[in-house]
Amino acid sequence: MQMNLEIRRLRKDGRIPYDLLLLADETIEAIDRYILQSEVYILERDHKAAAVYVLYTLDADCVEIKNIAVDEKLQGQGIGRSLLEDATRRATIDGYKTIIIGTGDGSIRQLDLYQKEGFEIFDIRKGFFIDNYPAPIYENGIQLRDMIMLRKQL
Ligand code: ACO
Ligand code: ACO
Repeated sequence: MQMNLEIRRLRKDGRIPYDLLLLADETIEAIDRYILQSEVYILERDHKAAAVYVLYTLDADCVEIKNIAVDEKLQGQGIGRSLLEDATRRATIDGYKTIIIGTGDGSIRQLDLYQKEGFEIFDIRKGFFIDNYPAPIYENGIQLRDMIMLRKQL
């Protein structure tokens, strides 16, 4: 179901919603590796960020969704799908040819969502979660090892 939600770009001096970003990434250090070079889009509820996605330009043709997160109380209501549709629309307007997203090999729900939104797996970054994070990460009882990369042609 597509929802009509108002999603806006965060100004460069706007408050970065780390609480939300930390739902999708393990540490502030990991987020800080991309956040200042990215465009941040937020959905507000009661004057507070309730959902976020982050676009990072890889090259003139390709942009990556580095982070996507919905407030835990609002998950499962279609907001994640709407964020992906908004990201796809903006990337198309901005002239990119491909939008990509990566997630953990145990992230079953995210893999389900991204494929329903038209993303296809094109690469596996072996050992990504072992090599880049200090402690093991578990999702759905599975230790994350590899990053599954998905893409959508625009
Ligand atoms: N089991 C399996 N799939 C599920 C489940 C579930 N319990 N719940 C949702 N989904 C999938 C389904 O495909 C669902 O589609 P459907 O409604 O047609 O069945 C789809 O997700 C859409 O669900 P939404 O309600 O739109 O998703 P939501 O608003 O919860 O947002 C998100 C999804 C962003 C993953 C959210 O759950 C979240 O913030 N999770 C924590 C942070 C996170 O893991 N972010 C992604 C990390 S990867 C990255 O950032 C690049
Ligand atoms: N959602 C997600 N994972 C689930 C679910 C579910 N609804 N149900 C079971 N699982 C997973 C869980 O990881 C579960 O582990 P847990 O109990 O620790 O949570 C695990 O499956 C084991 O469940 P079992 O009850 O042992 O599995 P089951 O007896 O149902 O057998 C099988 C699994 C063979 C996939 C069976 O469901 C089936 O016959 N499905 C249809 C045929 C099929 O798809 N076969 C595989 C095709 S690929 C191939 O054949 C090589």
